[in-house]
Amino acid sequence: MVEQKINIENKEKSYHTLSKQLEALIKDEPDITANLANASALLNQFLDKINWVGFYIWRETELVLGPFQGLPACIRIPANEGVCGTAYSKNKTMVVPNVNEFPGHIVCDAKSQSEIVIPVVINNEVYGVLDIDSPILDRFDETDRVGLEIFVNVLEKHI
Ligand code: SME
Repeated sequence: MVEQKINIENKEKSYHTLSKQLEALIKDEPDITANLANASALLNQFLDKINWVGFYIWRETELVLGPFQGLPACIRIPANEGVCGTAYSKNKTMVVPNVNEFPGHIVCDAKSQSEIVIPVVINNEVYGVLDIDSPILDRFDETDRVGLEIFVNVLEKHI
């Protein structure tokens, strides 16, 4: 088990351990909801300075709220809207240092100041996105982006 919050001095190694932990949690479980729920709980437990972490899943015409940890959030997000809809449409990780400067940002928790959204791709189609919000500006750097993309890669292999 990882036993503490991600160590800022050795974030890369901590993310590696976190991905291994995720793999152990989900590799023998075929239920997608259960696996996404555990993935969000794992991130919530081990990432510091975050106030929301969870998934939006593409349901035919829009993103719909999936398993998450944090305050109740907006339920439906169209493609191209907000940080989540943009990450979905571009199939690209969005790192937003200051959400107040992102045109069209959708406010779910007024505490959120910065955000990272990573697409989850299954069979070459964007299945949904992992969204993480922070109450501080500029919370997510390049190491977070790479570490979280690897975390999502583990998910993609097992859901
Ligand atoms: N801020 C997101 C909406 C989802 S919440 O942060 C949980 C966005 O702009 O897409």
